[in-house]
Amino acid sequence: MAQKTVRFGIIGAGLMGREFASAAARWSHLLNQDARPEVVSVCDPNLGATEWFKELGSSIQTTTDYRELLANPEVDAVYCAVPHQLHEEIYIATIEAGKHLLAEKPFGIDLPAAQNILAAVEAHPEILVRCSSQFPFFPGVQRIVKMVKAGDFGKIIEVRAGFLHSSDLDPSKPINWKRKIETNGEYGCLGDLGLHVVHVPARCGWKPKNVRALLSKIVAERPDGKGGMSPCETWDNAILACETDEFPIIFETKRIAPGETNTWYLNVYGTQNSAEFSTKNPKTLRTLPYRPGDRQAWHVEDLGYSSAYPAITGHIFEFGFTDAIQQMWAAYLDELVHPQMTGTFSCATPEEAHLSHRLFTAAIESQRTGQTISVG
Ligand SMILES: NC(=O)c1ccc[n+]([C@@H]2O[C@H](COP(=O)([O-])OP(=O)(O)OC[C@H]3O[C@@H](n4cnc5c(N)ncnc54)[C@H](O)[C@@H]3O)[C@@H](O)[C@H]2O)c1
Repeated sequence: MAQKTVRFGIIGAGLMGREFASAAARWSHLLNQDARPEVVSVCDPNLGATEWFKELGSSIQTTTDYRELLANPEVDAVYCAVPHQLHEEIYIATIEAGKHLLAEKPFGIDLPAAQNILAAVEAHPEILVRCSSQFPFFPGVQRIVKMVKAGDFGKIIEVRAGFLHSSDLDPSKPINWKRKIETNGEYGCLGDLGLHVVHVPARCGWKPKNVRALLSKIVAERPDGKGGMSPCETWDNAILACETDEFPIIFETKRIAPGETNTWYLNVYGTQNSAEFSTKNPKTLRTLPYRPGDRQAWHVEDLGYSSAYPAITGHIFEFGFTDAIQQMWAAYLDELVHPQMTGTFSCATPEEAHLSHRLFTAAIESQRTGQTISVG
């Protein structure tokens, strides 16, 4: 099949910049794709960070200035994975340069930044802007979304969505930009992890009307890497209790959750069926179908590699983080090259990111006042 090549520039050659480049480099993992990404340019002020990308091909442009990347006519689209204080400036510049954009969360350091980015998106409807959120592409989550669409849950009783990390449990871990308000925003763990938990509920139409938040700061200071200590300014852990029009949703995002490395979960409890999925057991979906008077018993199903976009991997094998990243990219390209995307689940939209900002801003106000705050 002839494939359309979409030429990408990567702004931010750190952890996530490399993840995308790796997904692009093994694109033949996917079957029946009529478009493929090619990385043609990479930008990072730390030129050392761009070294790894040279293995992708000697013709790749490397630059320390994102404006140079945006001025390159060879670049059709941009993946931007930089610290949060840079989102507003670079996302808006990318859109105004006429490049399609897969942005990173939280989509601006705070609500005003997200609103300014959204205004640029609305002023340029010809540009496809989406935000990274890969966990919905795990087969278990795709199944839950299908169950929601089919009305399988009956009346939904409660939803719980969370994302748990434990690496910050170690107080001797040096401080990084995610612990500073200037670079990560006051949201802390909400900005860092929050869109990941809001994306699927928002897509299902479960919009939080209000929030009562419990935010915690657990480690007060960390080594600064220069022999001293530096204060940790952002929230480590968050529990948000929200009302929607019909049922409660509990969101939790935690940087300090003992024993959890990168555990994303979604639990939906209903009167006719319930479902639990966690990346801790990434191939397993637990469901509990129920008819009045029946026994209540969880069913445990191994889903295997039943991906949204078909791949070479045998259907009995396991699905993981890097697969979810590649599937998310397939969804972005699907939406970019087709007037009507062929898949059923698109990447997070700017409006969904904006909703997450309104929720997190209300959560900070709730923590400050001890009150339940309207999400607006
Ligand atoms: N989707 C996910 O699962 C996921 C995971 C981690 C991080 N993220 C998000 O990705 C983004 C980047 O996080 P990361 O973990 O890759 O961070 P990182 O620190 O590993 O990488 C960020 C890179 O941006 C570079 N940078 C700084 N200023 C720049 C500029 N002006 N122009 C170009 N590059 C610049 C830094 O030198 C660094 O190499 C953040 O928005 C973060 O929230 C997403």
